[in-house]
Amino acid sequence: MCGIVAYTGCKEAYPILIKGLKRLEYRGYDSAGVSIIQGGELATYKQRGSVDQLDEFCMTQNVTGHTGIGHTRWATHGEPSSTNAHPHLSADGRIAIIHNGIIENYLPLRKELTQRGYVFHSETDTEVLVHLIDDIHKNEQCDLAEAVRIALTNVVGAYALAIISADEPDQIILAKKGSPLLIGVGKDEYFIGSDGSPIVEYTRKVVYLEDGDVAVVNPHKKLEIKNINDNVKKRPYLQKLELNLEQLEKGGFEHFMLKEIFEQPRAIKDSMRGRLNVKKDIVALGGIIEYEQKMLNARRFIIVACGTSWHAGIVGEYLFENLVRIPVEVEYASEFRYRNPLIYEDDVVIAISQSGETADTIAAIELAKSKGATVIGICNVVSSTISRITQAGSYTHAGPEIGVASTKAFTAQVTVLALMALSLARKKGTLPLSEYHRIISCLELIPKQVEETLKLNDQIKEIAKFFVNKRNAIYLGRGVNYPVALEGALKLKEISYIHAEGYPAAEMKHGPIALIDEEMPVVVLATEQDTYEKTVSNIQEVISRKGKIISIVTKGDTLVKGMSDFCIEIPETIELLTPLLSSIPLQLLAYHVAVLRGCNVDKPRNLAKSVSVE
Ligand code: G6P
Repeated sequence: MCGIVAYTGCKEAYPILIKGLKRLEYRGYDSAGVSIIQGGELATYKQRGSVDQLDEFCMTQNVTGHTGIGHTRWATHGEPSSTNAHPHLSADGRIAIIHNGIIENYLPLRKELTQRGYVFHSETDTEVLVHLIDDIHKNEQCDLAEAVRIALTNVVGAYALAIISADEPDQIILAKKGSPLLIGVGKDEYFIGSDGSPIVEYTRKVVYLEDGDVAVVNPHKKLEIKNINDNVKKRPYLQKLELNLEQLEKGGFEHFMLKEIFEQPRAIKDSMRGRLNVKKDIVALGGIIEYEQKMLNARRFIIVACGTSWHAGIVGEYLFENLVRIPVEVEYASEFRYRNPLIYEDDVVIAISQSGETADTIAAIELAKSKGATVIGICNVVSSTISRITQAGSYTHAGPEIGVASTKAFTAQVTVLALMALSLARKKGTLPLSEYHRIISCLELIPKQVEETLKLNDQIKEIAKFFVNKRNAIYLGRGVNYPVALEGALKLKEISYIHAEGYPAAEMKHGPIALIDEEMPVVVLATEQDTYEKTVSNIQEVISRKGKIISIVTKGDTLVKGMSDFCIEIPETIELLTPLLSSIPLQLLAYHVAVLRGCNVDKPRNLAKSVSVE
């Protein structure tokens, strides 16, 4: 979490920094700050609150200069406050640092530096870095870049760093380990960002820093990158930034989340583009072709992910086990990596991540790789860390997702998982051609059916009124719609702050049923055919205890509809693909409830979109 932006060149730095910070706010938004080299001195402005608040304040100041750094924070060490906001400064105020990540050994470093007379102003782990660098710079008689490099050899943890000094007014020093950082290369100027969004309108030439890199950018010199540990120079590898500026704007919608919900017909279509040809009965994912044989011979699949991506992973379990008939385990990446799991060389690990930067998922991948397993990625952000450290993979092509609550990334992930499962099943011979043909024909129809489902928006807005003053909600689903129940509950709690639980419908009687009374909304996914009668019984159990039923059913259903207080009818598809439709009303419901409750939909409290800390 935390967003980093920096600029050096002949333009005014502040407008570039503040625009970049606004684009990066999805990474954290509890405080923000900038430091700019102004007349040979560092001018630093920082405060608690949003980037807009920082901008309002800076507008009253005379902020000018051609080199600067900016930061938007998601607090880890120390509460959100102007003191804990970045940049942090050296004792003489001549060096400023911004940081995304966590310095794990900050306590012993802080103790040592305190004993040497350094005074700490903040509670952050970051402040140790600036004093450590300053100390080395002064005592080892080396230049600042070398001091940064030496300092980092003493640091344990994750970081993306940008450092400026009033004594080197055109220079920015950068370093990366574990958190993302890229350099946009302009003509005699450099743009730095945690992702490409602050860079894209100025240049498409970028260098993605790699773990262990320390770099020096200076418009008057060649870009220099070295390895932190061995001090050996590296040749910068220039790549093209694949990002579209229009995708970063709200396009007339009130919130990014709503825009992204409505983008799903396009996003799903894009994730199938060039991969699905129903006429020729072809499903092919170019990115994994080389590893397909390994996947077909896998002992089992282990899906690792966090949050919404983990929910998509559970849908994947149903798809893979049903279609490919190879066992699947779905693991929270954070649990997987710390429980000494059994991993075999013929396991195939599938890592799912929208951002491609989630620290726990990255660590799980490294662990799986170290045990010799094949690791396949499903990522949305092109050239993200996960897409680069996995052996092969498929992009979801959902386009940038800015709203913190994930929506289109989820359905695009499920689409890619369906394509993967179908392509493997056909080759493995676990699916007769007729059945394969039927499923891919249904898959091709999904974008149109999502469009149809989105027309329920007004009806769902009405239903949302029923939730406004509720304190709890239960979401029930069976089979492949069980993860959709989990996802629906997550959406509601993360953006409207109503406590919500997702459960497999049959598990309700083992606990959650105790919570049901006339105040409890129970959202039931009742689209699946095989267990329809069982779900009907579960609904009866809720009604007998005066709970209120909000059902999602297949169009034309009359039985469940007749039992429900509110009923949402979605188009018919085959059971395995229903999550692509049934998740849509739940996203809209969460959205409208949050809006009615006056919540900050795109930036819910305490959350961040990209969780680059463990
Ligand atoms: C955060 C986000 C979630 C996301 C999760 C995993 O918690 O708020 O929306 O699902 O991280 O992120 P990833 O980028 O790996 O999918």
